[in-house]
This record gives sequence, C-alpha cells and structure tokens, in this order.
Amino acid sequence: MASKRIGVVGSGIMGAGVAEVAAASGFEVVLRSRSQEGVDAMLAGLDASLARQLKKGRIDETTASDVRARVSAVTALDELAACDLVLESIVEDLAIKQDLFRELDRVCAPSAVLATNTSTLPVVEMAMVTKRPERVCGIHFFNPAPAMSLVELVPAITTSDATLAEARAFVEACAKTPVTVKDQAGFVVNALLFPYLNNAVRLFDAGVASRDDIDAAMKGGCNFPMGPLELLDLVGLDTSLAILDALYAEFHDPNFAPAPLLRRMVAAERLGRKSGTGFYDYAR
Ligand SMILES: NC(=O)c1ccc[n+]([C@@H]2O[C@H](COP(=O)([O-])OP(=O)(O)OC[C@H]3O[C@@H](n4cnc5c(N)ncnc54)[C@H](O)[C@@H]3O)[C@@H](O)[C@H]2O)c1
Repeated sequence: MASKRIGVVGSGIMGAGVAEVAAASGFEVVLRSRSQEGVDAMLAGLDASLARQLKKGRIDETTASDVRARVSAVTALDELAACDLVLESIVEDLAIKQDLFRELDRVCAPSAVLATNTSTLPVVEMAMVTKRPERVCGIHFFNPAPAMSLVELVPAITTSDATLAEARAFVEACAKTPVTVKDQAGFVVNALLFPYLNNAVRLFDAGVASRDDIDAAMKGGCNFPMGPLELLDLVGLDTSLAILDALYAEFHDPNFAPAPLLRRMVAAERLGRKSGTGFYDYAR
C-alpha cells in the first residue's frame, strides 16, 4: 500500500523539515504541534523557506503555492486519523515517545504505519507499546531535512517486511537515499559521529585549542563542511546529550560518556541555534 497522506508529529527542527520535504514531494501532510504557537511558527518557517527558494529561482510561484496548500497544521492528535504513515519527531525521550505511540495507536487506522525519527532510541520499545508492533519502523532523516540526502531505515525486530517496504517507498518518493540499519543505538551515522563530536567538546574544555581553531582544524584538515562545535549547535545540545546518554547506556563505551561541559551547557539552556546560544551566539 502506497502512503498518500503523511502525519508529522512535532514542530521542532526536524518535524518542520520533514513536513516540508514530504509536501514538496507531493504528499498531503498533516503536521501536529501541541500548541497554536508551534503551529504558527512552523507555518511561518515553511513560508520563509518557500520564499527563499522562490527568490533563488529554485521553484516557481505555482510550485510554492502547491507545496503550501498540501500542508495543514493542527493541534489535535485525532486529526491524524486519516494518515497512511505518521512520523513522530518529538523530543528524544523514550518515555515521552512511548506515550505518543500509545496515543497514535489509538487514533490512527490499524493499517497505518507509525514511524519514529529517533536518532538513537530503541525502535522496538516504541513498537511494543502499540497493538501493531509489525507496523512500526524507524525512519531517520538528517538535519536539515530538505538538504540532506540520506535517510536511515531502522526496522525493529518486530517490523514486517511490508512495513519496511512502505517506509522505503516513502523515503524514495521524497527523493532521499535510504540505507537499512539494525535497531541498535546510534544506528550507523550517530554511532560513528557522536564519539567525534563528544571528544571535540572535551578538547575544547581542556583548552587544547579555541572553539574557532577546533572547527577550522576539522574543516581544513578533514574537508568537513562544518566544524564539530558548529555541528553540535546545529543538531541542538539537548538532543546531542540525549543521543550520547542513549549510546552510553547501550554500549558503556567511554567515548559515548557525555563530556561534562555538554551537560552543563544544556543545564544552562545553551542549546545551540535553537536557543540563540551554544558554542556560538546566533542573532535571533
Ligand atoms: N536535531 C537533529 O539534528 C536531528 C536529526 C535527526 C533526527 N533528530 C530526532 O528528531 C527528533 C526531534 O528532534 P528536533 O531536533 O526536531 O528537536 P526540537 O527540540 O527542535 O523539537 C522537539 C519537538 O518536540 C516537542 N516536544 C517536547 N516535549 C514534548 C512532549 N512532552 N510531548 C510532545 N512533544 C514534545 C517540542 O514541542 C518540539 O516540537 C528527536 O527524536 C531527535 O533525536 C534530530
């Protein structure tokens, strides 16, 4: 069964990005935020993104208005009832995601695929709070979703082949490249990326080099498009800390033990771009 109407839950960095990608690929998208402010901010962000693409000549007026018309934003979860596939993209916290999966299982048709955009958490533990563990799958987009080509498909040990095939068809229809990865913490990309980002925070905290020099070193020395501290600010330091905590809990590898400075910065609400301050300051 091909998905036509996509639900996205969460209007943060990733929810908004995935909603834009799906709408631009021709899907009807219902985006759910808990608050009217979240709905308004998401729609304003979508309008701004479409206006930027229009100005750069990447899309024309008709495409922009068609994409905009395909997105509806709601606050009531029940509005997702007619969706074929719902992708949650809320805070990286297993208990909160499990509560949401229980609700989605109640609201959505039994045939609907329920998916998680989690970066590290066990997909099977979300699947098992539903009555349809075979219809639950990880679909892990990257940030920023409109620009990044990769998506990790993460079948839990309960996921059926038909569900995985539908998830793959959705990702391919979004013109993304899927890789299939076992349901273990960090999947491929974050399991490899986060020890590096975490050790960059340790180097910075130890005064081995300045913030700018650490980022310049990795851009110039490894040809990375962003330095590690810039990238942590883009991901969000709270999400990064949650990812490292989950990786450490699963593997007990010291490289995954969050750098103390990272935890302190999250406690101080220096979350990176989304809060206006992280390793860098961002004009708001
Ligand atoms: N930031 C990244 O680079 C990135 C990349 C890929 C995947 N992810 C994953 O995407 C998901 C969302 O991350 P994000 O970066 O968009 O975070 P974000 O902080 O930008 O947004 C989080 C969203 O969760 C909502 N939320 C918070 N508490 C909630 C609750 N109790 N119930 C329901 N909703 C709640 C917030 O209102 C917000 O809409 C996470 O699972 C994260 O691991 C993040």
